[in-house]
Amino acid sequence: MTELILPNDTNTLGNLLGGRLMHFIDLVAAMAAYRHSRTHVVTASMDHIDFIAPVHVGDFLILKSCVNRAFNTSMEVGVTVWVENPIAGVNRHVASAYLTFVAVDAQGRKVPVPRLEPETDEEKQHYEDAGRRRDQHREESGRRQGAKSI
Ligand SMILES: CC(C)(COP(=O)(O)OP(=O)(O)OC[C@H]1O[C@@H](n2cnc3c(N)ncnc32)[C@H](O)[C@@H]1OP(=O)(O)O)[C@@H](O)C(=O)NCCC(=O)NCCS
Repeated sequence: MTELILPNDTNTLGNLLGGRLMHFIDLVAAMAAYRHSRTHVVTASMDHIDFIAPVHVGDFLILKSCVNRAFNTSMEVGVTVWVENPIAGVNRHVASAYLTFVAVDAQGRKVPVPRLEPETDEEKQHYEDAGRRRDQHREESGRRQGAKSI
């Protein structure tokens, strides 16, 4: 997905707003999740994001998304974001994020997602890493729940 950054997307310095970037990340990730599941999806989580480089008005924002792993009803999607200055023709990495989407039917009930078989070495690596992140996320959620009940 490529976006031309306009004044309405920016702060008073002419830089892309963080919340607007998160919105674009959510959209491009949802598109990958829709294409994989071929049903409605809702965002369950978005992980930590570092804003590595500013994006200025007039820049092109280039977002790439990919389903890393499908679980039962959920999918992890990875997003990488690049900025291109169309005059200088220079590209820079701006941010990366992992999001989890849950597939639902038209009534909002969770539905299973198709399996995803990684083929290339890179896909296999993303698949394994997604499993590790899910285990870690569940561990942290469990700890938070435990702390709340004390
Ligand atoms: C996300 C949501 C559907 C999960 O429903 P739930 O009944 O709590 O789900 P469960 O605990 O049964 O988990 C369902 C799946 O979602 C995953 N999941 C749930 N919450 C999650 C979270 N915060 N982060 C990552 N994965 C999550 C579970 O691991 C499980 O995966 P699996 O089926 O692949 O094993 C529900 O919390 C919801 O509707 N949230 C609001 C979503 C929303 O409005 N998003 C923003 C606008 S799109």
